[in-house]
Amino acid sequence: MIHPLWLRITHWSNALAVAILTASGWRIYNASPFFDITFPPEVTLGGWLGGALQWHFAAMWLLGTNGLIYLTANLATGRLRRRFYPLPLGHVWRDMLQAFRGKLAHSDPAHYNAVQRAAYLFVIADTVLIFLSGLVLWKSVQFPVLRELMGGYETARRIHFVGMTALVGFVAVHIVMAALVPRTLRAMFRGR
Ligand code: HEM
Repeated sequence: MIHPLWLRITHWSNALAVAILTASGWRIYNASPFFDITFPPEVTLGGWLGGALQWHFAAMWLLGTNGLIYLTANLATGRLRRRFYPLPLGHVWRDMLQAFRGKLAHSDPAHYNAVQRAAYLFVIADTVLIFLSGLVLWKSVQFPVLRELMGGYETARRIHFVGMTALVGFVAVHIVMAALVPRTLRAMFRGR
């Protein structure tokens, strides 16, 4: 078994949660943008600010519960260490160059290359950061220490936005890679 059932379930519920959070988050941002850009209403979710907030908070629980299960199971089974460690930085660079030359082996879903390891660890950390900055935006009075660590409410908004942008960038590349190497996609559905 390459991907245990709990991993596949948490992965796909996570993808669903991130899709809902992103589309409804764009609608919430549009109601009070802090950059020159806004998102086209057609790609947002919720219809209006109130509706988008409802979607956002509902998917927040899915992401939080799911992330907790994923991280706890990964740590408890020792899978995190097996799949993602070691990660020498030199290998990330070497594998990246090989990938650009079209020579990187990516067809064995039982083993992640250094670029995959780095990308997955990055997105896990990024999701945690988005979640924590989101807690500050949701309950800023109840999480004062977290709010101050984030540099205050307004800075937390920017951190949340930049984290979202990085996550969307990851997902775009991630989907292209999964389409280019369908074996990995099959394994994420069937487990092997
Ligand atoms: C529709 C969208 C998505 C597709 C088609 C997809 C597909 C896949 C596939 C095929 C793998 C296995 C890769 C391999 O074995 O080489 C994988 C792993 C992974 N994906 Fe996705 N994914 C999607 C969305 C996401 C999202 C939204 C996130 C993060 C927020 C994410 C994070 C990860 C992580 C962290 C792993 C490694 C999991 C582990 O082994 O512990 N994916 N994904």
